[in-house]
Amino acid sequence: MNAAQKLIREHNLTWEEFAELIKMADDPQVDALLAEEAVRIRKEVYGTDVYTRGLIEFTNYCKNDCYYCGIRRSNPNAKRYRLTEEEILACCENGYELGFRTFVLQGGEDPYFNDDRMVDIVRKIRAGYPDCAITLSIGEKSYESYKRFREAGADRYLLRHETANDVHYRKLHPEEMRLEARKQCLYDLKTLGYQVGAGFMVGSPEQTAETLADDLVFLKELDPQMVGIGPFIPHHDTMFAKEPSGSVPLTLFLLSVIRIMLPHVLLPATTALGTADPLGREKGLQHGANVVMPNLSPVKNRKQYDLYDNKICTGEEAAECRGCLGRRVESVGFTLVSDRGDFRS
Ligand code: SAM
Ligand code: FES
Repeated sequence: MNAAQKLIREHNLTWEEFAELIKMADDPQVDALLAEEAVRIRKEVYGTDVYTRGLIEFTNYCKNDCYYCGIRRSNPNAKRYRLTEEEILACCENGYELGFRTFVLQGGEDPYFNDDRMVDIVRKIRAGYPDCAITLSIGEKSYESYKRFREAGADRYLLRHETANDVHYRKLHPEEMRLEARKQCLYDLKTLGYQVGAGFMVGSPEQTAETLADDLVFLKELDPQMVGIGPFIPHHDTMFAKEPSGSVPLTLFLLSVIRIMLPHVLLPATTALGTADPLGREKGLQHGANVVMPNLSPVKNRKQYDLYDNKICTGEEAAECRGCLGRRVESVGFTLVSDRGDFRS
């Protein structure tokens, strides 16, 4: 209990205390205490508003080979697709009509979408929707590339660090990927004035309370504007097919911890959380989350962005997704708003 009370008082803990706190995650009293404080803080900073992000999964080609990911390059069963520029812009148009004021362009690291093509797309969205935020989530790029995207009009960037522990990072990624490079990208993005999102999967293979403590220490140091966490869910075509899914209660507990550590952070109740538990996103909001990310991708491609098994929301039109999430958000006393939903400092 001491570590929990100290976190509430000081918004930070030592590495040892974080590890100790994480080991208390299955104590319902500690969970309730942190959840109550997390919701209190999010209401103080963001009221009862829940921000929406229209997620456009525009390519599932990827040159990387992350061991956990269903669209990794060495999965021959992944049915690959790319949206055309026209299709991406049509997603934005549809999204704007539905009230979205943030578009998130997410994809694998697809060499087809080189810097020139990305700049072109970002410029067109910026020109067509001057009142909207543009978020990119397209992996590790050079400082120069990030600079070009920023100058073209991108406002935010999501790049989960995945794990802040080197040994653990090696268990999840091939030799060619390096944690230091990923961290450098996050610092570059901050330098360029992006609102930056880091994050990790909860319950990825070989994760421990100690590696999670590394994640929390890293997040405190990076001080990002957004943090994306969701349970690891196995994909049948990966080497982790037989691994268990990450724990929903632990994910919820960590959402509260992160809200208390970083009071102003934008914190989504993720699709993976909704996949692992049918009421996962509602519970996420009750543990300090304040963002949801409904899918704006064309229904014909939804199932192909197949990161993990049984992903939800792959059959509905965007309007249905938004309606469904609006009802879910209201069921736990919050309101889905039509707003860019910027970070409030
Ligand atoms: N390529 C970009 C990147 O690497 O940042 C964005 C796309 S990537 C698919 C988005 C996120 O999906 C990853 O950061 C990872 O945390 C998550 N993800 C991938 N496989 C997953 C799985 N099996 N279970 C849960 N989340 C997963
Ligand atoms: Fe590239 Fe998953 S391995 S998006």
